[in-house]
Formats: sequence, C-alpha cells, structure tokens
Amino acid sequence: MSEETAVAQADSTVIRAEALGKTYAEGRMRTPVFDGLDFRVEAGETVAILGASGAGKSTLLHLLGGLDTPTSGEVYVAGQKMSALSDAARGQLRNRALGFVYQFHHLLPEFTALENAMLPLLLGGAATDAAAARARELLEAVGLGHRIEHKPGELSGGERQRAAVARALVNRPACVLGDEPTGNLDERTAGTVFELMLELNRAQRTSLVLVTHDRRLARKLDRVVELHEARLREVAPDQV
Ligand SMILES: Nc1ncnc2c1ncn2[C@@H]1O[C@H](COP(=O)(O)OP(=O)(O)O)[C@@H](O)[C@H]1O
Ligand SMILES: [Mg+2]
Repeated sequence: MSEETAVAQADSTVIRAEALGKTYAEGRMRTPVFDGLDFRVEAGETVAILGASGAGKSTLLHLLGGLDTPTSGEVYVAGQKMSALSDAARGQLRNRALGFVYQFHHLLPEFTALENAMLPLLLGGAATDAAAARARELLEAVGLGHRIEHKPGELSGGERQRAAVARALVNRPACVLGDEPTGNLDERTAGTVFELMLELNRAQRTSLVLVTHDRRLARKLDRVVELHEARLREVAPDQV
C-alpha cells in the first residue's frame, strides 16, 4: 500500500478494532465476554449495535471509546493505536475525537446545562467565551435554548438526554458513542432524542455508534451489527 493510500484510509476510518477480546478478571473469577472481534466505523457512518442484556455491548463500547483496556487486540481511533498512547494522550484523543452519551445522562448536577455542555471544550483548552458560544449553539440545536441556566435536576428526562447530546457533540467529534442513550426514556421521547442525534450527526458529518435493543430505532441507521454468543455479525437491513 502506498503511503498516500494509507493516509486516505486512516482518514475515512474513524474507529477500527482488530481481534478485540475482553475477559474481566476479579480475584479468581474470570468472565470472558468476547474474543477476536473485528469492527470498523467509517467517517459519517451510523451503526447500531444490538444484543441481549449481558452480551457485552457496553464492554465493546467502552473498549472502542478507550474507557477500558482490552485483554487482547487493538483499537485505533482516528488512526492512532490506543494502547500505544499514555493515559494523558489517550484522554486527549478521546476528548478531541469522541463524544459519549450514556443511558443515564451523567451531567454534573451542580452545573447548569450551559456549563455541562461547555466542559469538553474547556478540558480541551478552549477560551471560556468561545466555549460558551459554541455550547449555546448546540443547546439551541437540541431545543434547549430556553433552558441553558437550568441544572440537570431542573430538567425533564428527555431534556437531560438532549443536554447530554449537546455535550457529546460540542467538540465536533469524529464519532459519537451512545450506550442505550434513549433506554431510560418513554417511547415518544426516545424517538425524538434518537431522531435528534441522527439529524445532528448528519449535519456535522459525525459518525454514530449506538447500542440499543430497540430494533425499530436500529433500522434507521446505515448499518446494524449484533453481538451474540461472543461474536459480532452484520445484520442485513431486512433482517433487523
Ligand atoms: N466490571 C466487570 N467485572 C466483571 N464482569 C463484568 C464487568 N462488567 C461487565 N461484566 C460482565 O460482562 C458481561 C457483559 O456485560 P456488558 O458489556 O455490560 O453487557 P451489555 O451491555 O450487553 O448488557 C456480563 O456478563 C457482565 O456481567
Ligand atoms: Mg450495557
């Protein structure tokens, strides 16, 4: 492969996992979750990860996001081998290239929606004014322009998740990773937040990897994979 081709490939692949394996070990107890998983996310692509409870979906997402270390195999984010980076460098790459949305919003309770959404930018070294302007823009995009001074406890469940989506996208990450981001919402609110994530990802050309067990929502993404019995398999669109 020429160097030029290698660079082009690195640019179009946002996350690449090779022969990924995870076994939890606590004391003498070993819990093998999966082994030898290959997975790729291309720029702008949206991928759903389906699987039964306990199949290892959160584990996989944590490994892809550099929040946990694999037992075997490698994860590359934006072409960089995660295992080769120092903790600090990995943290920086994570903050720059990835956004996270969890089932429970994980907003800081003592900070306003605006401050929560600014946080990734401030951690990345942005100036306060610029961070506030960008965070406000995102909060407006998720329909929370009138709630920016509210703390998480003063927002509804759906509003909190929308604030979490704003926070995840504020840094213009290459990829947003969502672990059942709508799993804790009623069906209608879940649908709205889901559509919002898709819209924003399209508008910003961000990739999106979403763990969900809602097949109806999964069907709206470009690609669906299923984690089943420690294997990851592509699901044909008409089989979802
Ligand atoms: N920190 C941990 N220590 C030991 N076992 C764990 C840990 N986290 C998850 N597991 C186990 O790994 C398996 C996969 O968990 P998880 O990735 O959370 O599944 P899912 O998100 O698909 O429900 C489960 O059997 C779970 O009990
Ligand atoms: Mg999970």
